Amino acid sequence: MTKIAVFTGAGVSKESGIDTFRDKGGLWDNYSVEEVATSGGWMLDRKKVLAFYNKRRKELEKVEPNLAHTLISGLEPVYDVTVITQNVDNLHERAGSCKVMHLHGELTKVKIEDRDIKNPESIEIGYDSIKLGDTPAKYGREVNPSLMNQLRPDIVWFGENVPMLEKAGQVIFDADIVLVIGTSLQVYPAAGLIDYMNDDAELFVIDPDITVNTSRKIHLIEKPATEGMRIFVNHLKEKYGK
Ligand code: OAD
Repeated sequence: MTKIAVFTGAGVSKESGIDTFRDKGGLWDNYSVEEVATSGGWMLDRKKVLAFYNKRRKELEKVEPNLAHTLISGLEPVYDVTVITQNVDNLHERAGSCKVMHLHGELTKVKIEDRDIKNPESIEIGYDSIKLGDTPAKYGREVNPSLMNQLRPDIVWFGENVPMLEKAGQVIFDADIVLVIGTSLQVYPAAGLIDYMNDDAELFVIDPDITVNTSRKIHLIEKPATEGMRIFVNHLKEKYGK
């Protein structure tokens, strides 16, 4: 089965109504990255960080996957598809994609803030809000009194380790086709993933406004994600007849 690795960023969810980060008027125009997306910001003002992610969780509850998400999951009966996303939303899963790797964490999950624990348990909270003082006990989990039990978003903040990186690199390396959608490719190490592609693989990029720095041949589809995905699916049909 032809293996397709779909590597997505904020642009794939834009037409669902979720803002990107770096486009004009995007999230980072309105919030300080340092304040809400670093462990330093968390130490300084936990309440502010919790409020930022609580708001985004509530927004996520109100939006739906768009046609791009649906067309991606629709490839699964015919191709071996793995989605690697930088997005913290759950729109790929809600559109029916079975194999989704979240490089930067997930909005609907939290974990304890204790930094000495290597892999703290991830707790699914749906669209709940988290407040200061909330611990795993809120979700019926045991609380170890010798740890710092305050719940924090299960998001990979800037400067933190990206636990899924190695597995994602393997998926990219194994792929026959790599399809990049809606990412400015400015945040490393995620952006470096396309360098893991093997020489025989084909690279497609769907984005209305991007410059990709690579010496590889790129099939660039300069369209929004939904329209770009229609073009990509048609291309597959022409090439593989399915
Ligand atoms: P960016 O905001 O950096 O880039 C969004 C990309 O989507 C840009 O290349 C846009 O041109 C493109 N775009 C805009 N509208 C689109 C549409 N309708 N269809 C397709 N593409 C569209 O977002 P990311 O690259 O995802 O990390 O950002 C990477 C990381 O930076 C995020 O995961 C987040 C952020 O800070 C953390 O918070 C750790």
